[in-house]
Amino acid sequence: MSASQTPALADLQAQATAAPEHHDAFWMPFTANRQFKKSPRLLASAEGMYYRSTDGREILDGTAGLWCVNAGHGHPHIVQAIQKQAATLDYAPTFQMGHPLPFVLAERLAKLAPDPLKHVFYTNSGSESVDTALKIALAYHRVRGEGQRTRLIGREKGYHGVGFGGISVGGMVNNRKFFGPMLPGVDHLPHTLDIARNGFSRGLPAHGAELANELERLVALHDASTIAAVIIEPVSGSAGVVLPPEGYLRRIREICDKHGILLIFDEVITGFGRVGEAFAAQRFGVVPDLITTAKGLSNGAVPMGAVFATSAIHDAFMHGPEGAIELFHGYTYSGHPLACAAALATLDVYEGEGLFQRAIELGPYWEQAIHALKDLPNVVDIRNFGLVGAVELAARPEGAGLRGYEVFNRAFFEQNLMVRCTGDVIALSPPLILNKEHIDRIFDRLAATIRATA
Ligand SMILES: Cc1ncc(COP(=O)(O)O)c(C=O)c1O
Repeated sequence: MSASQTPALADLQAQATAAPEHHDAFWMPFTANRQFKKSPRLLASAEGMYYRSTDGREILDGTAGLWCVNAGHGHPHIVQAIQKQAATLDYAPTFQMGHPLPFVLAERLAKLAPDPLKHVFYTNSGSESVDTALKIALAYHRVRGEGQRTRLIGREKGYHGVGFGGISVGGMVNNRKFFGPMLPGVDHLPHTLDIARNGFSRGLPAHGAELANELERLVALHDASTIAAVIIEPVSGSAGVVLPPEGYLRRIREICDKHGILLIFDEVITGFGRVGEAFAAQRFGVVPDLITTAKGLSNGAVPMGAVFATSAIHDAFMHGPEGAIELFHGYTYSGHPLACAAALATLDVYEGEGLFQRAIELGPYWEQAIHALKDLPNVVDIRNFGLVGAVELAARPEGAGLRGYEVFNRAFFEQNLMVRCTGDVIALSPPLILNKEHIDRIFDRLAATIRATA
């Protein structure tokens, strides 16, 4: 490091740990900007299971950042890999050029994915992975001579990021209603949240597999020959942790197979160990045709996403003149060297520390701990699977989401605990490195907050 760089780095360090004087210029995403800026929740650094806030408090991370830091914060192996890569090859294109890392990474990823999803297309985020998978599905049918299959089917309460494809197949009203007509030719299956029948279920809910048959209704309405793909989160996170009833995903797969419809699992949250296997597809024993991922792929350390495709889909494109580009799609940063280095190091950590098994090993303890909150005031449902959990609270009479936000905010300031709130649902998805003491601490602090917010 040159002497002239040192003050600049020191300056950056100081800026990263001190609260900024002005907050106005940053238009924050998915944030109540005016409310936040009156009382900012600012994080300065992180290590392992903890953040440190700019006011010096140690904050227990109950959400792995935003469902992404599965290997814990600041893992030295990942940090060093990124540092080394930045100094070796900062950037190289992957359009008609290449560098070794995305090839090496794709091979490793293909080994983790269920058969026959052995091909990897890189993106930079979950939203891009979703739009990529939807485009691959449409193009796949076209290259096979079934270009009339253009309809896409999502689900109510689905979250598939914020691209126009993702919000079109998504089913969260506020993410849709501001943005015009979106993609044409999209329909939605019903969601599977049914508190009346399944409230306080431990693990997968028993009731609701028959909701998968709604797909037959949509096939009867539109005709299978017009439908390209169904996209589903095996476990949905953003809408407040909605679980698939026992047998539901299998039934969806059967109906897709019967009608030649591609099945896309959006595993942006469930991928990389969240539910006890590398992918939820493996945990549930249901294999889709495409899998979208991001988040845990690079431990959130450098933005990266990936779409996994079956050999049948990939090979369908590998026809025609050898000099012809097979898929007119990609991003400047697809397979970015820093992201690949981060992902390769992340996979080392997952394997070396056995983190994909953690959700199985700790699942029963996690389940017991979260369900112990059942009798706290205003708790109307508790849901859990793998190392995912949700505590749903009754809305305050003054409006939906107020109680959830208050719990989230008070947990941060009064209990040094980071949770997520979606409306009145408190969602949890800790780094997979946690132990039983962390679990106790998370739920002690959350219980204290829920009591205080009664
Ligand atoms: C299932 C799912 N798909 C897509 C996305 C979008 O990912 P990103 O925010 O990286 O674009 C998310 C983000 O939470 C997600 O949960």
